[in-house]
Amino acid sequence: MTDPRPGLYVHLPYCASRCGYCAFVVTTDASSRERYLDALDREAALLGPEAGAAGGGFDSLYLGGGTPSYVPPAETARLLGALRRRFSVASDSEVTLEANPEDVTPDAVSAWREAGIDRVSVGIQSLADRELSAVGRRHDAAGARTALGRLTGAGLSVSGDLILGLPEQTPESFRASLAGLVASGVEHVSVYLLESEKSKSIEEDRRLRPERYLPDDAQAELWLEMGETLAARGFAHYEISNWARPGREARHNLKYWTRTPTLGLGVSAHELWGGRRRANVSSLERYLSELSEGRRPTAFDVPVSAAERAREEIFLGLRLSEGIETGRIEAFVSAGGDVRLWQDYEAWVAEGVLERRGSRVAFTERGFLVSNEVLSRFV
Ligand SMILES: C[S@@+](CC[C@H](N)C(=O)[O-])C[C@H]1O[C@@H](n2cnc3c(N)ncnc32)[C@H](O)[C@@H]1O
Ligand code: SF4
Repeated sequence: MTDPRPGLYVHLPYCASRCGYCAFVVTTDASSRERYLDALDREAALLGPEAGAAGGGFDSLYLGGGTPSYVPPAETARLLGALRRRFSVASDSEVTLEANPEDVTPDAVSAWREAGIDRVSVGIQSLADRELSAVGRRHDAAGARTALGRLTGAGLSVSGDLILGLPEQTPESFRASLAGLVASGVEHVSVYLLESEKSKSIEEDRRLRPERYLPDDAQAELWLEMGETLAARGFAHYEISNWARPGREARHNLKYWTRTPTLGLGVSAHELWGGRRRANVSSLERYLSELSEGRRPTAFDVPVSAAERAREEIFLGLRLSEGIETGRIEAFVSAGGDVRLWQDYEAWVAEGVLERRGSRVAFTERGFLVSNEVLSRFV
């Protein structure tokens, strides 16, 4: 079997406004955008055409953010053209753009398609107006439905993100958002539990007005129910937060969980490349200034040791529904991992958090709900 081909991630940090819950590296000041796109090209040039070529060329490009759809489509097309000239990119690549519903105009959709984008991941978050305005989203439910219709109607492969645990969310409103998303014809669904600790304003609001938030046990029940709903509609659960129709799993994102090499360009981009984990700085100013002086703006660049690799294979692999070879956990413990982990492992299996399937071990659906506790033990 040939090795999977590498992927290329490009971070586009520009957003029209900042949403209440978001902790990604973003800016609402678009004045540097032109300089930024030049800097991306310089960064690509520093890596040279050999990057990716040895692995057979990239077969996935992912424009993430931030809000990539907020970059004018003609500039996105130029960026993709430049990346294709700089690197070897397979003609059958998956090319994903992250989009916010309000940017999905008919003109933008045709320009994206023309630029070779074949997959769009849309931040729906909810189809309830109360919830959308509670976190400062710029779109309403009707706008989200229109965007989804335009994208699926244009024959693109569409993924929709929802958040479980938004302020003002109720079990009924969450069920309705999920049903609406599935009915729109998406082929992929990502559902994230609101990470309230990532935002001071949400954390504070949750403390002062807890009645606006679903309690944890209600969220857990909804999460399990959602899995059943999606399964009944033909979506397979393939990673903690991701469901897809057969063959529509995110090729690029799967590379992160299977430790397939990915190169990362742009502010705050991370990569696993040449056996090293490396990240760019998360300050936009520094990113721009380092590149203007001809240097890659590295925040860290470390080789992955054999022990670290074994650990990564466990905590990344266990995020997938297919889990990992049982032998990996045995090897981790015998290579010096905490021996108490062994008893815990047996207990997790006995309690139905983990399940052995032939030579593999994987989280059960209920086990995914406590996966953080389990994964945090593999340190
Ligand atoms: C890179 S982000 C942004 C994509 C796009 N700009 C948008 O707003 O839809 C990708 C996804 O992460 C999720 N996300 C961001 N912050 C989160 C948080 N604090 N808790 C849970 N999910 C979050 C959202 O569902 C979002 O669509
Ligand atoms: S959720 Fe999306 S649009 Fe909102 S601030 Fe974060 S990246 Fe920007």
